Amino acid sequence: MRRIRAVAHANIALAKYWGKADLEQNLPAVPSLSLTLSGLRTVTEVQFDSELKEDRVSLDGEVQTGRPKQRVVELLTRARARAGSNVFAQVQSRNEFPTAAGLASSASGFAALALASTRAVGLELSPGEVSSLARRSSASAARSLFGGWASLDANAEQAQSVAPADHFPVVMIVAETAKGPKAIGSTEGMLHTARTSPFYEGWVAGAPDIYARARRALLEKDLAELGAAMEHSTLAMHASMLAADPALSYLTPTTWSVIERVRQLRSEGLAAFFTMDAGPHVKVLTSATMAASVMSELQQVPGVLRVATHEPGPAAYWEEVDA
Ligand code: PMV
Repeated sequence: MRRIRAVAHANIALAKYWGKADLEQNLPAVPSLSLTLSGLRTVTEVQFDSELKEDRVSLDGEVQTGRPKQRVVELLTRARARAGSNVFAQVQSRNEFPTAAGLASSASGFAALALASTRAVGLELSPGEVSSLARRSSASAARSLFGGWASLDANAEQAQSVAPADHFPVVMIVAETAKGPKAIGSTEGMLHTARTSPFYEGWVAGAPDIYARARRALLEKDLAELGAAMEHSTLAMHASMLAADPALSYLTPTTWSVIERVRQLRSEGLAAFFTMDAGPHVKVLTSATMAASVMSELQQVPGVLRVATHEPGPAAYWEEVDA
């Protein structure tokens, strides 16, 4: 059968997704808005092969077992069910992220896997349908099928495009503040927050307004307003986590130092705005013209390990490769 290579890029949410409306279907409790970034890409090859006795999965050259393999097999099983196939697959995936970019790879990973596996099994799905399949594995992955700006509504099955990559000349600067994998994964963190945080309800109730504000600002190309909504979203999300019992605390003193520096830069006239996900790194949205100045300032914050600038990136794509 055909060997398909798919490429998908990481995305960073400005209006965050945190919380599930339906655990089994993996439907988000709140709407989210993201920017897909160039450079941070996952390349995944899939080939279904009737000689195989089970699915085989390798990531960055290492054979996967246990839960990481299981998550890939679950997606392959859904693709097979949809195509009426019972053939196993060989999956080879690599993350072309700059060394230790400190970014979660699940969004680009499951987007690339959903696209490669559906094409390899013979399905011809729309980007929205592939997005829906990716969402079952990781809701943020649903957004990585689209280039530029994408949204995923509360309870929605698939993400959609909001604006193309060239809508607005902005960049995202990633300030890496720690090494190593995150301590608590996003699903576990969301469930713990929902179960134990008295602020979770407030987060879910307030998120649609924050999302609407961010979306409006984006469409109006109003960077200051978009940045304000983005900061409100990340801080409200982290506040819900900090009020969990025990607290879910992803932010470190270095994270806060970067936040302070971003605020200072703003008071000096630079348009720069911060956001953090389920980890200590800070992603800073700024205009393309101010990127070099903001980057050199962030590099000097004590504790920052590495700084990299990423432009808005393209939609996920695929091609057939010779076996
Ligand atoms: O899609 P998941 O399960 O990896 O969750 C992503 C959650 C955040 O990164 C914190 C927010 C987001 O919208 O991407």
